[in-house]
Amino acid sequence: MGCFGCSGKSVKETEEEKWKDQLNQSRRNVEDQPPTLDLVKPKPSESVKESDAKREEAAEDKNQLNPDMNDLNLRDICKGGKSNGTCAQTFTFDELEAAIGNFRKDCFLGEGGFGKVYRGHLKRTNQEVAIKQLDRNGLQGTKEFIVEVTMLSLANHPNLVKLIGFCAERDQRLLVYEYMPLGSLEAHLHDLPPRRKGLDWNTRMKIAAGAAQGLEYLHEKLNPPIIYRDLKCSNILLGDGYHPKLSDFGLAKVGPSGDRTHVSTRVMGTYGYCAPDYAMTGQLTFKSDIYSFGVVLLELITGRKAFDPVKDPKEQNLVAWARPLFKDRRKFWMMADPSLEGKYPVRGLYQALAIAAMCVQEQPSMRPVIADVVTALNYLASQKYDPSIHPVQSSKSRRASSTRAKSEEVKVTTTDDDSESN
Ligand SMILES: Nc1ncnc2c1ncn2[C@@H]1O[C@H](COP(=O)(O)OP(=O)(O)OP(=O)(O)O)[C@@H](O)[C@H]1O
Ligand SMILES: [Mg+2]
Repeated sequence: MGCFGCSGKSVKETEEEKWKDQLNQSRRNVEDQPPTLDLVKPKPSESVKESDAKREEAAEDKNQLNPDMNDLNLRDICKGGKSNGTCAQTFTFDELEAAIGNFRKDCFLGEGGFGKVYRGHLKRTNQEVAIKQLDRNGLQGTKEFIVEVTMLSLANHPNLVKLIGFCAERDQRLLVYEYMPLGSLEAHLHDLPPRRKGLDWNTRMKIAAGAAQGLEYLHEKLNPPIIYRDLKCSNILLGDGYHPKLSDFGLAKVGPSGDRTHVSTRVMGTYGYCAPDYAMTGQLTFKSDIYSFGVVLLELITGRKAFDPVKDPKEQNLVAWARPLFKDRRKFWMMADPSLEGKYPVRGLYQALAIAAMCVQEQPSMRPVIADVVTALNYLASQKYDPSIHPVQSSKSRRASSTRAKSEEVKVTTTDDDSESN
């Protein structure tokens, strides 16, 4: 989960009290929590964006979940069953503790905004699992826990990580997911250890197409449709064969219904991924997710991070760096990840960049809907790079293809100017 809300009270003084309050609150109502001061999750490696829009939120946030969900609590989620026919199981703390070898160090997978994640083995189902334990001193809370359980209990798609169950015993909050053996996309794209090979072009396009299908399910197939709000490389987990699945739904929101075009809510997102329109107005739309998807696609193509504080200021924000390059097709080759070593189909690169450029347009109305992105990426993923057909792009051939590009009439439609506000 990428972001969270947190109260502005002194942590020490109120921690226990706050925790008890949260528990009671969650029993009463999923969304009926007092307004909080919004901060975006400060993950050590990431820059964060402070929320700036509380406006209509207090009034409207209550309506973000479908009325059916408003009075839901964890017991109900399990008792009521779910639309996909399988119910998230409840686990005792002892059972999960045993599954991860009493929180053994070598079971530790990593840590995010929610808390620590461990690999474990469930005896009950003889299954490999990943178990996330809510950090009680952390800034993500019961609300995110319940939204996560609710969303994943409603959803069932091959490109969404499966929630196997949860533990809500005493003050413990743990989530049990299917284990994704290849970890996160982020770990395969950025800061690779020396000598580890980066992802090849075909795998990148496969991941992009699969992630888009997961998002399409949330936007267009699920009822009610969901705005994910936390799309980023660290939340795309990889299974065998680099099969991608979206994870972390604690920030997800039910999309606008009827004539409403947006959901007004506090701004939560990660630098580099958050759509500028949402960041400025607090108006969340399906197109906010499309922007974040465009950033992920750009990361896949370029190998650059969405926001990289180590880079020269002009190159820190990936979209700001890419925008001027989008305008000149002759420069497209400069955007290909150097670790691909020229092993990509030129046409495929151009098409992938065209899709990314459309997704990150400043005007949300100019961004495509996810179904169109899926169609385009499925086609791209089917056009495999084959070194026996496609020549490796040396700098000489790149220059030649850029000269050809000058005379071809393929244009990326973009209405944006060069300014970057995200
Ligand atoms: N189901 C899973 N299978 C395997 N590894 C997982 C699973 N879920 C999470 N992880 C790993 O655990 C680590 C922490 O994940 P977590 O989602 O808590 O944090 P994050 O994605 O890095 O940050 P954020 O809080 O922004 O989501 C990551 O390295 C992630 O790859
Ligand atoms: Mg995550």
